Amino acid sequence: MSLVLDAAAQDLLFREARTANTFTDEPVTDEQVQAIYDLVKFGPTAFNQSPLRVVLVRSAEGRERLVQHMAEGNRPKTATAPLVAILAADNEFHEELPALLPHFPQAKDVFFSERPVRESAAGLNAALQAAYFIIGVRAAGLAAGPMTGYDAAGIQKEFLDGDHTPLMVVNIGKPGEDAWFPRSPRLSYDEVVKTV
Ligand SMILES: Cc1cc2nc3c(=O)[nH]c(=O)nc-3n(C[C@H](O)[C@H](O)[C@H](O)COP(=O)(O)O)c2cc1C
Repeated sequence: MSLVLDAAAQDLLFREARTANTFTDEPVTDEQVQAIYDLVKFGPTAFNQSPLRVVLVRSAEGRERLVQHMAEGNRPKTATAPLVAILAADNEFHEELPALLPHFPQAKDVFFSERPVRESAAGLNAALQAAYFIIGVRAAGLAAGPMTGYDAAGIQKEFLDGDHTPLMVVNIGKPGEDAWFPRSPRLSYDEVVKTV
């Protein structure tokens, strides 16, 4: 009763949304991915930075190379998902800050002149953007299968720019047969929230 989002949308985004482990053959188009990005780009980040980078692996050759870098148990789903996206954090995101934060362009130099600070900020804020992306996939009526079980150094070397750090690989598509593992429990409100 406290939520203003309608119940069907709550189910689509959270209650009935699951992490898919199998997929149908139905393609995922660039138009769908663009619609997802154009929605979730409005999710908040610190200083309005935008460190998320996305590599869509569409070619058979690229898919084959990527599968080799996945952990054994993840290979079949990455091999068969209609679309696979590599999500990464750009550690040089500060270059875009003056354009993204026009009311405070000095933030680039005041806060992000040091690489370790940028890597930390990029990791946190790109992870936030990755979470928004997963919810966006669900908003498109698709299922996402995020994975971090992979050889990060291999993916970084083969698919990403030198300044980009892999965050996760996401299988995307309509769920196939036996797509779900049993739903695991979540912590309750009282276990997570305290009031001081
Ligand atoms: C960042 C991240 C990494 C994950 N890595 C893997 C993985 O390597 N292999 C895998 O089978 N599932 C992986 N998962 C899937 C989770 O186990 C799954 O999303 C979680 O248990 C919730 O499942 P549910 O959405 O079906 O409730 C990952 C999920 C996230 C968000």
